[in-house]
Amino acid sequence: MEPALNPFAPGSGVMPPAMVGRQTEIDAFDLLIARAKANTAGNRGILLTGLRGVGKTVLLNMFAEQARRNGWLVAQFEAQPGAEGPKVVRMKLARELQLGVRRLKQSSAWSHLRLQGLGSISNISVGLGLKGLTADMEFTPGRADSKDLHIDLEEMVEDVSLSMHKARAGFALVIDEMQDLDDELLGALLTVQHTAGQRGWPFYIIGGGLPSLPGKVSETRPYAERLFQYRMIGKLSHDAASDALTTPISRLGGLLGGEALELVLEAAGRYPYSLQAYGHTLWEAASGKEISTGDARLAVQLGAEALDQDFFVARWQRATGAERSYLRAMSLDGEGPTNTADLGDRLGKNHSSLTSQRGRLIEKGIIFSPEHGQIQFTVPGMGAFIARQTD
Ligand SMILES: Nc1ncnc2c1ncn2[C@@H]1O[C@H](COP(=O)(O)OP(=O)(O)OP(=O)(O)O)[C@@H](O)[C@H]1O
Ligand SMILES: [Mg+2]
Repeated sequence: MEPALNPFAPGSGVMPPAMVGRQTEIDAFDLLIARAKANTAGNRGILLTGLRGVGKTVLLNMFAEQARRNGWLVAQFEAQPGAEGPKVVRMKLARELQLGVRRLKQSSAWSHLRLQGLGSISNISVGLGLKGLTADMEFTPGRADSKDLHIDLEEMVEDVSLSMHKARAGFALVIDEMQDLDDELLGALLTVQHTAGQRGWPFYIIGGGLPSLPGKVSETRPYAERLFQYRMIGKLSHDAASDALTTPISRLGGLLGGEALELVLEAAGRYPYSLQAYGHTLWEAASGKEISTGDARLAVQLGAEALDQDFFVARWQRATGAERSYLRAMSLDGEGPTNTADLGDRLGKNHSSLTSQRGRLIEKGIIFSPEHGQIQFTVPGMGAFIARQTD
């Protein structure tokens, strides 16, 4: 069908043409907004966890937008691994606070923030490393300017939250790839979230990350598991996955059903990213408005190639020869998880050389540790892809 009209959107954080199967998460966030409006205390932040391509970023974007529409102060950023990560993420946090507060200039919260909050945001921004603050920023001596991250974060969050509370709104930090936050910032944020809960401040961390995130959070602060609502997101139900494909097609006058639909669902494994990828090739392969089984067969073949290229090949190429052997040994367990103890036997190597390979593969974002002594691929379908590789 007409390529220019292809509605499917395989990509990172790209809003899908039909957002399906995530009503529970959307309702949970709506409830948080409603409770903040009613000044009801006792709420928890939300952590979304799941493998690559299940739709975490898309949901976080929706939550951030929904909060902004309701007059919240929102700072949204993505954590980054590696040596530069801590510096970069502090700058992003500072910049987002500045932008977030500017968006509220026309809102009812502004008069409160001017009295309490704005000065702390300016002060902490300097401490977080942001240079080139705009001339109209106001500095209030004595708040959030100690240059101690824990103290400054708490003072800033207190000032901003109390102002947002008066405006019957909230203050959210929306953090993607949260498993990559450095220990210092993660620890400070969790402490503040804890304090906020006890004092009834409407401050919430809304995070997204790999399934290793809850473990990392509890390791950093043992009480942290009670601070959040954890939502594991993954495969869609059969009905939702069908809707993800049929709704955009029928909206544009096409028809998809029966065996053609089942073939594509089977190939996509009901994962959001794969559904978009196969939806895209289905549209390309369709010879008429009513999509046939033959069209679907071709689309599955093209979709598998596209997925290999977009999703798997880059990750595979990032791995060195030794790391590929490690990944191959993992792929004997299909999609995993794999016990690290079994890998030593399979590869005939000692524990310490495998530990450093494991560390590098985690750093490269190819595997993660779902729990102690286990590892797993971050991307659904990676095990099957590796099993097909010959080099
Ligand atoms: N509920 C949904 N229904 C249909 N498609 C979806 C849904 N959620 C996400 N998608 C699609 O899936 C793809 C991946 O979404 P997104 O980037 O949000 O995933 P992610 O979990 O953040 O992945 P990563 O871990 O790689 O960052 C996008 O193409 C998006 O349009
Ligand atoms: Mg994402």
